[in-house]
Amino acid sequence: MDNKLHYFHYLQFLLLLSSSCFSLVAFSWISPYNENKNYEGSSDLVNLEYHMGPVLSSPIKLYIIWYGNWNPSHQATIRDFLNSFSSSYAPHPSVADWWRTIRLYTDQTGQNISTISLSGEFFDFKYSQGKYLSRLSVQYVIKNAVRSYPKALPLNYKNGVYLVLTSYDVQVQEFCRAVCGFHYFTFPSILGVTVPYAWVGYSGKQCPGFCAYPFAWPKNSGKPPPSTINGGNSLMGAPNGDPGVDGMISVIAHELAEVSSNPLVNAWYAGNDPIAPTEIADLCLGVYGTGAGGGFVGQVYKDSWGNGFNLHGVKGRKFLVQWVWNPLRKRCFGPNAMD
Ligand SMILES: *[C@@H]1O[C@H](CO)[C@@H](O)[C@H](O)[C@H]1NC(C)=O
Repeated sequence: MDNKLHYFHYLQFLLLLSSSCFSLVAFSWISPYNENKNYEGSSDLVNLEYHMGPVLSSPIKLYIIWYGNWNPSHQATIRDFLNSFSSSYAPHPSVADWWRTIRLYTDQTGQNISTISLSGEFFDFKYSQGKYLSRLSVQYVIKNAVRSYPKALPLNYKNGVYLVLTSYDVQVQEFCRAVCGFHYFTFPSILGVTVPYAWVGYSGKQCPGFCAYPFAWPKNSGKPPPSTINGGNSLMGAPNGDPGVDGMISVIAHELAEVSSNPLVNAWYAGNDPIAPTEIADLCLGVYGTGAGGGFVGQVYKDSWGNGFNLHGVKGRKFLVQWVWNPLRKRCFGPNAMD
């Protein structure tokens, strides 16, 4: 306790010296989703179980497929975020620190989930499968990317994970109505092999209130946007300047945590239904810091413009990423935890 207080004063002192320093004045944010099932506090009610399947225990090579018409500055934000997973250069609490919680999960041979590194990118600017994608057609997007000439991605079925990111003008089955992203694995009948993949959509135009929370507010929530404890204005500012992209960052992190711990949907999940499993990030939806729950996203930091964040990344970037279930502490956890 004393240590923490000391640290706090030290940072306030630094703030006086430098206006570009981030503020450690943690602030809470109110969630519109009061009914959210989240478990920031320890809970014996969570029956997260291991179902004997594999986890991604070889060093994970991540391949991005940019589908559609992407803004280069949005791409740069996402690329820096993904490069932050394997970087030791960012200050604590970092994206790499956040990944350490995911690495606590093991398979039945005792192998932990491994490291993750961005290993290739493909630009499907011609919308190879059109502007409406079904869940299944996302697999054809991957097939196109690994078969394309001349700049195909490798078909890496040993330790590859494919991340399909759709632009503002692409509709995806259930996007904005039920989901902001999902993960699954490819079928041999489509790709010839089974490889894990995830999809996340850019929600900035279609449904920021649904997928870019807490940077945007759901229009139909029936509640006014939150006010900050210091009487500031309504919404949390996006640390990289775009609610759609900053919201996507947390969804991407959510899907990478789950595809690694439940790649074939037979490893780590709670509940008895493998068709609708509650996975390690689902358990902590809307939780970004200590004290989350009951409508609060928890204590996070403010940058010098007042935008919210809880993790540092490469190139001085800041990100807001939800917590995941920690299997040893048996509660939601992130490296910005204050307890
Ligand atoms: C692997 O998982 C075990 C069990 O959760 C944990 O004690 C250990 O620290 C993990 N190792 C790494 C490298 O994260």
